[in-house]
Amino acid sequence: SPIGLPNLRECQLATDSSVIGSPFTTRLNCCLPIPPGDVIDFSFQKYKNHNRRLRMPAHKISSDYIAKYRRAYEIMRALPQDDPRNFITQANVHCAFCNGAYKQPGTDGILIQMHFSWLFLIWHRWYLYFHERILGSLIGDPSFALVFWNWDDQRDGGNIMPAMFLPNNSSLYDANRNQANLPPTLAKLTPVMTGNDSEIINQNLNIMYQEVVTNDVAELFIGGPYRTGVDISNSTVLNAPLGGSIENGIHNAMHYWTGDPRQPLLQDMGTFSSASRDPIFYAHHSNLDRLWDKWRHGMPGGPRKDYSDPDFLNAEFYFYDENARLVKVNVRDGLDIEKLGYGYPDVAADELWINYSP
Ligand code: C2O
Repeated sequence: SPIGLPNLRECQLATDSSVIGSPFTTRLNCCLPIPPGDVIDFSFQKYKNHNRRLRMPAHKISSDYIAKYRRAYEIMRALPQDDPRNFITQANVHCAFCNGAYKQPGTDGILIQMHFSWLFLIWHRWYLYFHERILGSLIGDPSFALVFWNWDDQRDGGNIMPAMFLPNNSSLYDANRNQANLPPTLAKLTPVMTGNDSEIINQNLNIMYQEVVTNDVAELFIGGPYRTGVDISNSTVLNAPLGGSIENGIHNAMHYWTGDPRQPLLQDMGTFSSASRDPIFYAHHSNLDRLWDKWRHGMPGGPRKDYSDPDFLNAEFYFYDENARLVKVNVRDGLDIEKLGYGYPDVAADELWINYSP
């Protein structure tokens, strides 16, 4: 049966450990507040967007847009910590469902893990969907859209840390980042990569081609089946047999590349329990979300298919909405981004990796 909703009243300390470098384990409380009122059942009607939200590449937005983005995160950071929309509480949603705070219902204690399987892309899509709605509502802008970090763009300037996240007096800043990877250092889409800039660019294109173009079936790209009773809570980035290519590859690589090697777990971006304490996280995942959509609809050879297995389609998650209410969503409702009311522009530089010839 599909992964169902946990009992939020049964929360335990989360665990995060290093799997590379020296052994280090931390236990932390990222239990989520339970807001008053009934749980809302998601429907397109209730969460209608009157304006389509257009997510732009982080390196191409205007200074007005950046100012708006900063203001939204400023307000989010200033909310009381028991407010589900607070920045740290938002980050704790990731920690809670990725570091073992909750149990799969219908099992004797198997912990929920939203990485390493077919739920990875869709869970993060929904996570961003509500995060974006919250930011928009905090600044009273119903068409507010996240940006995407266009690290796969090897031509027009997307493959460095986006400038909007760098000034240290801004709500978009995070001190825990790899200082050796600030601009103009080029992003490396796999952790083991050497060479000069043009060699890195070439390897990046090759990796994009392998992971997104070549892997044309859901099992390879999205990840393997995760149902009630399947325990992937002991998977790690080094051993994740159900993880899809985009997750195990580029996704992890950019988390490491961004995280701070002075921290024991490469916090913030380098580990689950702290990754979304860096606002760049949401831009990183927005690009993964874009690439999933591109993989579905924009590859040579025609549209590709997500899973149609009911255990995939009927899996359910909890999130907080822009009114600080608890909302329940399923996988099925999240598979079409136009129906969700947002989208991405065409990115011309995609052609470089789509047409890469190894
Ligand atoms: Cu849930 Cu990119 O991590």
